[in-house]
Amino acid sequence: MEKQGGHVMVLTYPAQGHINPLLQFSKRLASKGLKATLATTHYTVNFIQSDAVGVEAISDGFDEGGFMQAPSLEAYLESFQAVGSRTVGELILKFNESASPVDCLVYDSILPWGLSVARQFGIYGAAFWTTSASVCSMYWQLRQGVLSLPVKQEPVPVSMPGLPPLRLSDLPDFLAQPGHLSAYMSAVMEQISTLEQNDWVFMNSFDALESELVKAMSGLWSVAMIGPMVPSAYLDQQIEGDTVYGASLWKPTNDECLGWLETKPPKSVVYISFGSMAEIPVKQVEEIAWGLKESDYHFIWVVKESESGKLPINFLNSMNETGLVVTWCNQLEVLAHKAVGCFVTHCGWNSILEGLSLGVPMVGMPQRVDQPTNAKFVEDVWRAGVRAQKDEEGIVTRKELEKCIKEIMVGERSEEIKRNACMWRQSAKSAVSKGGSSDKNTDEFVGVLLKRGK
Ligand code: UDX
Repeated sequence: MEKQGGHVMVLTYPAQGHINPLLQFSKRLASKGLKATLATTHYTVNFIQSDAVGVEAISDGFDEGGFMQAPSLEAYLESFQAVGSRTVGELILKFNESASPVDCLVYDSILPWGLSVARQFGIYGAAFWTTSASVCSMYWQLRQGVLSLPVKQEPVPVSMPGLPPLRLSDLPDFLAQPGHLSAYMSAVMEQISTLEQNDWVFMNSFDALESELVKAMSGLWSVAMIGPMVPSAYLDQQIEGDTVYGASLWKPTNDECLGWLETKPPKSVVYISFGSMAEIPVKQVEEIAWGLKESDYHFIWVVKESESGKLPINFLNSMNETGLVVTWCNQLEVLAHKAVGCFVTHCGWNSILEGLSLGVPMVGMPQRVDQPTNAKFVEDVWRAGVRAQKDEEGIVTRKELEKCIKEIMVGERSEEIKRNACMWRQSAKSAVSKGGSSDKNTDEFVGVLLKRGK
């Protein structure tokens, strides 16, 4: 049997914000001549469609209902490690008996046991970090003992290259909250402690976006910035058919959104979404509703089905043509529409990259984990948006939201913010275009695998 060259298996955590960038990376690799296989759980495998990438099921131990069936995050990660490493191993074995043995396992860094599986088969192992390089650096400093937990000191002693001193509210939330520490911290520390053993550490970011961090990290691990992982059509690239991620865990309502957007003037609509996982307190949902109404702009608001019971009834009745509330949409298509002028976001890393890649200015309303740090960067480093401030109860009031939306749409800094957002769009496009920094890093990796595959 003649061996075909260069096969990469990409292992993803089965959440929307993880599948999207890892599937996208698989497509990029396939477009450069590698055979790419995405391994995802039985529960999510049927939601993924890609002509360019093979998609195979592995098990996390919860084949029927996915992680929603697990009693806790700890229990889920434990089960995934035990059952996942066995079933990923079986999948690699299956390919190794075919004409396309696996040469490298790229695994989602939240599943650090992926490296042991790679080593067991004597193949390359590469971590794919799904949040920002800055957050990665922050966790690294934490592991070095710069911080003691829970963090209470203002300003916090952790330092970030190129950033002024950080406040507690700029840190991932669980570092300051003792109750959240165990599950997240042990998962994060395990991820960080294995990074240096990898053949590559891929970051879904690009050099220009986190330039200071790139310098600071280059001596630590074999870091390669390869992002942004956004379908190439949105970055004016020519990978055939690459117009969508190809994975949606919920049914999008896009005909409705796009039809509605077509009737609105350019840059007149506020798009608001909190990603795939956030659970927003009822009081906050109410404040958002009335803040949107009072700001008096058209809006599309994604409220997931599981959250829709929190919407005030009188708000829904009073919306008329001003707003559209949907349970899920193809976010990229909406952000790319000329009618959208502002993105109110929870600052999940994919949403941030999408906002920057499409040049849409943002209002940051971070909720948890890495999102506060991302919001800090949006406002103070990339200057492509503003961050909404919380009151003493931890709520962004309707007045504050209204103020932030107006700041983006017509405020004193509006023009500067819009200019910066456009500048980041150009920068993102340059990074992934032929010869750009992310494209070169990807080519180097592909080159090594193609050689090994021969
Ligand atoms: C989470 C974390 O917040 C994020 O920082 C981490 O890196 C990955 O996991 P999530 O909270 O879901 O992800 O947010 P985000 O990273 O923004 O990812 C959400 C994805 O869902 C985006 O790619 C977005 O385009 C997509 N989406 C969201 C839709 O396609 N439709 C929607 O209606 C809302």
